Amino acid sequence: MSDHVVLEEVAAGNWRACAALEVVDEQEEFVAPVAYYLALCAYGDSPWRPLAVRVRDEVVGFVMWGRDPADGSFWIGGLVIDRRHQRRGYGREVVRQLLERAAAEGYRSAALSYDPRNTVARALYAGLGFEETGEVEDSETVARRALG
Ligand SMILES: CC(C)(COP(=O)(O)OP(=O)(O)OC[C@H]1O[C@@H](n2cnc3c(N)ncnc32)[C@H](O)[C@@H]1OP(=O)(O)O)[C@@H](O)C(=O)NCCC(=O)NCCS
Repeated sequence: MSDHVVLEEVAAGNWRACAALEVVDEQEEFVAPVAYYLALCAYGDSPWRPLAVRVRDEVVGFVMWGRDPADGSFWIGGLVIDRRHQRRGYGREVVRQLLERAAAEGYRSAALSYDPRNTVARALYAGLGFEETGEVEDSETVARRALG
C-alpha cells in the first residue's frame, strides 16, 4: 500500500475531524458516532485511549485501544474508516500497526469484538489472525489472537 497511514494522538487540532467521520448508512448500526467514543475515552470507567488515523494531511479514521485490567490483553475498539476512504487497505493497516505496537510493548494477546452481522469486520479481523472464542461482550462476538 503506497499511502502512509499514521496513528496520532487526538488533540485540539484533530478532534473535530474525528467527530466528523461518517460510515455508510448500512454500517451505522455497527458502531457508535465517533463523538460518543471520544466521550467514552474521556469519561468512561474503562481505560480506552483514542487515536486519529491520518493519511497525508487528512483524518480518515478513528480507533481506540485499552488494556484489559482483568487479563492484561490489548483491546482494540471503535474502528471507523470514513466512508469516502474505505476499501483502500487503511482499516487493515490500522489494526496491523496497533498489533505491532502492542507486541513491542510486551502485550501477549489482543482482543476485539464486533456485531455478529458485521461481515466486513469479521473478514478483516479473521484475515489478521483473530479467532472467535465463543465469548460475547455487550451482544458482540469476541475474537482474540496471540502476539509476539
Ligand atoms: C470495517 C472497516 C473499518 C474496514 O475498513 P477499510 O479501510 O474499508 O478496510 P480495508 O480496505 O483495510 O479492507 C480490509 C478487508 O476488510 C474486508 N472488507 C473491507 N470492506 C469490505 C466490503 N465493503 N465488503 C466486503 N469486505 C470488505 C475485506 O476482507 C478486506 O480485505 P480485501 O480488500 O483484501 O478483500 C470499515 O468498513 C468501517 O469503518 N466500517 C464501519 C465501522 C465498523 O464496522 N467498524 C468495525 C467495528 S468492529
